[in-house]
Amino acid sequence: MPSLFDPIVLGDIAVANRIIMAPLTRSRAGASRIPNDLMAEYYAQRAGAGLIISEATAISPQGYGWSGAPAMYNDEQQEGWKKITRAVHERGGKIVLQLWHMGRVSHPDFQEGQLPVAPSAIAATGSANTPEGKKPYVTPRALETAELPGIVQDYVRAAQRAIAAGFDGVEIHAANGYLLDQFIRSHSNQRNDQYGGSIENRLRLVIEVVEAVGNAIGFGRTGIRLSPNISYNGMGDADPVATYTALMQALNAYDLAYVHVRETLPNKTEKPEIWVGTAMRDAYQGNFIVNGGYDGASAQDALSQDKADAVAFGMLFIANPDLVDRIRKNVDMNKTKANGLYAGGVEGYTDYPLLRQD
Ligand SMILES: Cc1cc2nc3c(=O)[nH]c(=O)nc-3n(C[C@H](O)[C@H](O)[C@H](O)COP(=O)(O)O)c2cc1C
Repeated sequence: MPSLFDPIVLGDIAVANRIIMAPLTRSRAGASRIPNDLMAEYYAQRAGAGLIISEATAISPQGYGWSGAPAMYNDEQQEGWKKITRAVHERGGKIVLQLWHMGRVSHPDFQEGQLPVAPSAIAATGSANTPEGKKPYVTPRALETAELPGIVQDYVRAAQRAIAAGFDGVEIHAANGYLLDQFIRSHSNQRNDQYGGSIENRLRLVIEVVEAVGNAIGFGRTGIRLSPNISYNGMGDADPVATYTALMQALNAYDLAYVHVRETLPNKTEKPEIWVGTAMRDAYQGNFIVNGGYDGASAQDALSQDKADAVAFGMLFIANPDLVDRIRKNVDMNKTKANGLYAGGVEGYTDYPLLRQD
């Protein structure tokens, strides 16, 4: 029976333990979208994780839409990321870059006044995090079929930049209501071309991205994140079990590093009525990472019950840079500070105390 502290090989990425740092947008990159020294310090502090999944990172200007988030579409950003990968590797850690296109939940303020793009002209519910504060989401422009190969190429270029910057791999962000999730699920995808309608059609874009990125950098360096039970921003699907089972069956054709499923909202331990993750675990033959509301004990249970091969932690890693040590020693966790969660500087970011080493 595997322990959280056992090593595991995720495709081509050998990691020291099964405690994964979930991707966490912390908005410290500033207007340039270039990763900086403060971010390198933050990630280095957390290098004890078996694998760090970076905060979501825009693959193109079109895919950007969160003030302060970093990007990976120009040389300066690629250079900036080298500081982070170097710092994590010097501490013996591993790190992958989460590839992000926000689709309809970007905002014209990030798009030189143009509409953000989506599978269909259907607005999300909620508001965008613009430089001037929260603004309601707008009705997006439906992408032309002819534009989709260009978006696939944007994923490929960002993945190639990630490898050039020293990342161990990438995680394709197909969760949380962003572009690829918008294509996968029927509420946001009402297209009439070969990218909409049937499950096979709705899965076409995400599979094209997986295949192109895998061919470019290696399937063993490519992971994917999905969130079949997350329904905010108006996300939803007519038959999530059928959709995500079909996706798992399609992904079995590639030797990916892993599939990563976010099951719940932060710190919510209650389980949804339809547990899509179980059907996905059953259908998928490769490494399976779960996330959402876990602590050390429940994460070990997930491994012991063969629900997952590794577990990702979000909030706990924000407040506990030495989370692996704390779980091992079964000691108290730091509390998350209200300040600095989604933006700011040092406070609530790199100032969480470590356990005393005595
Ligand atoms: C501050 C914050 C930022 C987040 N940023 C991202 C992100 O960039 N990409 C992503 O896929 N999920 C993001 N999430 C979701 C987390 O990865 C994770 O799924 C969520 O916190 C649930 O796990 P937990 O209960 O262990 O915190 C974020 C969550 C929080 C609280």
